[in-house]
Amino acid sequence: MAKGVYISKALAIATIVLTVSAVCGIVLMVILYQMQIEKKSPVRPPSPVPTTPLPTGPPPTLRLPKNLIPESYKIYIQPFLYTKLNNVTEQSYFFKGNSTVRLKCVKDTRSIFLHAAFLSVTHVVVTHSDTQKEIDYERYQVQNETNFFEILLKDALIGNGSYYNLFTVFEGELHDDLAGLYSSQYTEKVDEERFLIASQMQPTDARRVFPCFDEPDMKAVFNITVIHRDGTTALSNTKGYSRYVEMGTDEDSWIATTFDPTPVMSTYLLAFTVTVQDFGRKSDKHDTKEIKIWARPEAVAAGHANYAMEITLKILEYYENLFKMKYQLNKLDQIAVPDFSGSGMENWGLVMYRESALLYEEGVSSASNKEFVATVVAHELAHQWFGNLVTMKWWNNLWLNEGLATFLSYFGVNYAEPMWNIKDLIILKEIRVAMEVDCLNSSHPLSLPESEVEDPDDIAELFDGITYSKGAAVLRMLYAYIEEKAFMEGLRVSGIVYNQHMIRQSILLPYQDTNTHKDVVGIMKTWTEQPGYPVITINTSTGMIAQEQFLINRGEDQGLEWKVPIKFIKRDSEIQEDLLKEKGPIRVPAYEIKDDAWLLANVNCTGYYRVNYDEQNWNKLIHQLESNHPAIPLISRGQLIDDAFNLARAKYINVTLALTTTKYLINETDYVPWESALKNLRYFMLMFDRSEVYGPMQKYLHKQIAPLYEYFKKYTDNMTVPLDLADQYNQINAISVACSNGVLECTAMARSLFNEWKNGTDRIPPNLKSTIYCNAIAAGDEHDWDFAWEKYDTATIATMKDDLRYGLSCTKKIWLLNRYLGYTLDHNKIRKMDAASTITYIAKNVAGQALAWDFIRAHWTYISQEYGIMFDDSLIDEVTQRFSTDFELQQLRDFQQVCSEDGSCVAKRALEQVIERTEANIKWVKENKQTVLNWFVEQSKVL
Ligand SMILES: *[C@@H]1O[C@H](CO)[C@@H](O)[C@H](O)[C@H]1NC(C)=O
Ligand SMILES: *[C@@H]1O[C@H](CO)[C@@H](O)[C@H](O)[C@H]1NC(C)=O
Ligand SMILES: *[C@@H]1O[C@H](CO)[C@@H](O)[C@H](O)[C@H]1NC(C)=O
Ligand SMILES: *[C@@H]1O[C@H](CO)[C@@H](O)[C@H](O)[C@H]1NC(C)=O
Ligand SMILES: *[C@@H]1O[C@H](CO)[C@@H](O)[C@H](O)[C@H]1NC(C)=O
Ligand SMILES: [Zn+2]
Repeated sequence: MAKGVYISKALAIATIVLTVSAVCGIVLMVILYQMQIEKKSPVRPPSPVPTTPLPTGPPPTLRLPKNLIPESYKIYIQPFLYTKLNNVTEQSYFFKGNSTVRLKCVKDTRSIFLHAAFLSVTHVVVTHSDTQKEIDYERYQVQNETNFFEILLKDALIGNGSYYNLFTVFEGELHDDLAGLYSSQYTEKVDEERFLIASQMQPTDARRVFPCFDEPDMKAVFNITVIHRDGTTALSNTKGYSRYVEMGTDEDSWIATTFDPTPVMSTYLLAFTVTVQDFGRKSDKHDTKEIKIWARPEAVAAGHANYAMEITLKILEYYENLFKMKYQLNKLDQIAVPDFSGSGMENWGLVMYRESALLYEEGVSSASNKEFVATVVAHELAHQWFGNLVTMKWWNNLWLNEGLATFLSYFGVNYAEPMWNIKDLIILKEIRVAMEVDCLNSSHPLSLPESEVEDPDDIAELFDGITYSKGAAVLRMLYAYIEEKAFMEGLRVSGIVYNQHMIRQSILLPYQDTNTHKDVVGIMKTWTEQPGYPVITINTSTGMIAQEQFLINRGEDQGLEWKVPIKFIKRDSEIQEDLLKEKGPIRVPAYEIKDDAWLLANVNCTGYYRVNYDEQNWNKLIHQLESNHPAIPLISRGQLIDDAFNLARAKYINVTLALTTTKYLINETDYVPWESALKNLRYFMLMFDRSEVYGPMQKYLHKQIAPLYEYFKKYTDNMTVPLDLADQYNQINAISVACSNGVLECTAMARSLFNEWKNGTDRIPPNLKSTIYCNAIAAGDEHDWDFAWEKYDTATIATMKDDLRYGLSCTKKIWLLNRYLGYTLDHNKIRKMDAASTITYIAKNVAGQALAWDFIRAHWTYISQEYGIMFDDSLIDEVTQRFSTDFELQQLRDFQQVCSEDGSCVAKRALEQVIERTEANIKWVKENKQTVLNWFVEQSKVL
């Protein structure tokens, strides 16, 4: 799966620093969705049923006891939802079903424990599989808190390997909660409501659809029949065959679609959809296998599924060659679901996506939209092998699934779009993202003990940046260390040997080990079983090298150590390799430098760590950047900047040294270093854009960005698009930084394109829409704002609406911003799910900061009631990012006071966190303001 947080990351790449990104909007949207998902509190299982000599009663943990092993299921599901409503029918949000599961008893037991939640089970029959003899039970119960479904038998089942059948009849409800089996809605032909059924089982919601052994290693064969209304189409993991059926007294006509038995697979990969019969589809073939993309009919008719089809065919072929193993099913459906919690879900043979992760509109969608589609598709298709065929034994090793799929997706995208150089972007999209959360004390190891991940909430929490991005980062490090051949061979072998089986970390890695004769297991353990990552300190004059954990708030060193593969180069010499096995400091002559050469370690940032040097070496590296930057590899240029700023935050080096790494950017045209610098300078902007530092800082940025703006001018003026994806992103950076830092030519360009649009000709290129809207409106008047609002109000394309909604927040006119804030209270003007991100956009605008803060305090009661806790938390977090004065701190404390007196205050935790952050900001500004001011003044003098 590619989950919520993940979306923001995938899009973040293309968004613009120093101004605002559209990302928070999506994050908040996801949060709003997640809010609706019922929270299950972590409750231990019920107490044992007394009076029985045999092993019975609930398992001592939240895990199934494994005395009964499911072999196959036969499931009937009948959802009653109408996909179209006429003026007399009422919608029915429920489903009925029955299931027969064939079980092998391997250990004596009087209780059958499996999973079910929020199902009403109306009938249970247990029979001996051979004799068909019915086995009586005393009682059964679905425990919704623990998700256990217990059947207490009169007599024990004997664990001699005999088979039993468990038959259950059940009913459940369809909610719009995006979990289990759920309903989703869309509009067709302007005003016709349509409904559909979709599913999301991962990680623990198959149990909301039918009683099952809902643990990833309890794999089984599933024989599924969906009974659905006439006029609808049902899909599931395998190929289906339909026929009309009589349903007793029911007057409606029904179709039964029976699906081929699935391969042996985990419950979390099951999937169902029921849509109108004429739901859009685009078909093609891969070998003899039917490949289909499904989406709203209007989207498919307009060609929005074409791109996904094109890359799916390429990427399937690529993975088949890479793994030397065919895609295992005889069909593949991929469907864009209008309401979807993550970005994609790899259900075997029926992959589901949110619309923005599968649909692409040529000429309208931007490069980052396209990259998002390619990345998510490549991720989910990688799972068709790693995840679906070979599966982690338990959720504690989810990182094997997700880290691999994330890492491999870069290979898949690179094959489908070779011009993009997507592999260079992994440093921004994964490594930097992982490092940013993994340097906090609250981080967790990639792989936790099984016993620490039992509760569904704990499992759900694992779908985070560490699991995905750090997972990919440490696999990339391994890949670089043992090299491609051994890495891929290891994957192939484990793929073949563990086909349909489970892997543990301790199984995957030895295959790499025997292939390379390097201590892969020993090395990887240090990266997967401990949180965080190290900073390596190299003193090039003495050759001393040492490591310690890198924490942004440096405290007492906890003594953690890693086995660190190091690739380093010295000026004008060959690359060298080393493995740092101890904490140090130790002396390694190879790191010593005699002449005026420099040393660069962690070349191309293949290692997941930061590097600090003695000041002399830093200066030599900076000098090299300034005199001839291509002598340092592209990725390393970005990493030098990112390391320097982070080392300065953690007080390893001076803030001026970090700032100095940005001086050479005046000659830099590549995206990776620019993006690294802008991301880091964003913090400076937030801290200083209301102070006297801002003027000199703007001057400096103006000076640095002007050549980059010039570099892309031929594209900007001719409305052409650079071929390289990174160049496309850097053009956006050039324009947004230039326009917001006083490059007049830039503002004139934005104004002129916007005015042309007002006069009826829209020539604004898709990639530039967001930044042109923003900068033209920032420089414009109320008529421009009203024009853009009118366009927003009538736009039907989601990406266009989002770009405009963001652009509207960029005006510098206080009264317009205030009116816009007011619109967020009116759901006819701004949809409920967009309200939070709109307020956030306004707060990011320096002119709107104070207004937004006043606004949320003034409307606090309404906002809390309307949206609830998750919303409040992130709203407070976003709106107060700039806070760095004692006065603001006092306001926060006052608000906390009011809030706690209220009793119903739901934002306690968020308030505590932002107060802590504000205190840290105040301290940082006190310590650094004068130095930073002097530096910028100095830099803007030398023109
Ligand atoms: C499911 O189908 C397979 C293959 O036809 C069959 O062997 C198995 O018995 C079926 N399972 C159940 C529970 O009916
Ligand atoms: C329902 O719609 C049909 C045509 O679609 C119309 O003839 C009929 O009058 C409507 N009935 C009601 C109760 O509105
Ligand atoms: C399960 O439900 C289906 C569809 O309603 C029905 O045809 C079938 O007979 C039921 N199975 C059993 C064993 O009752
Ligand atoms: C569990 O939830 C289902 C559906 O909401 C309900 O029918 C059932 O009674 C609940 N079970 C318990 C023990 O509360
Ligand atoms: C670093 O990455 C670039 C691609 O960005 C590649 O061409 C170069 O060979 C790599 N250098 C090393 C030492 O791996
Ligand atoms: Zn995934």
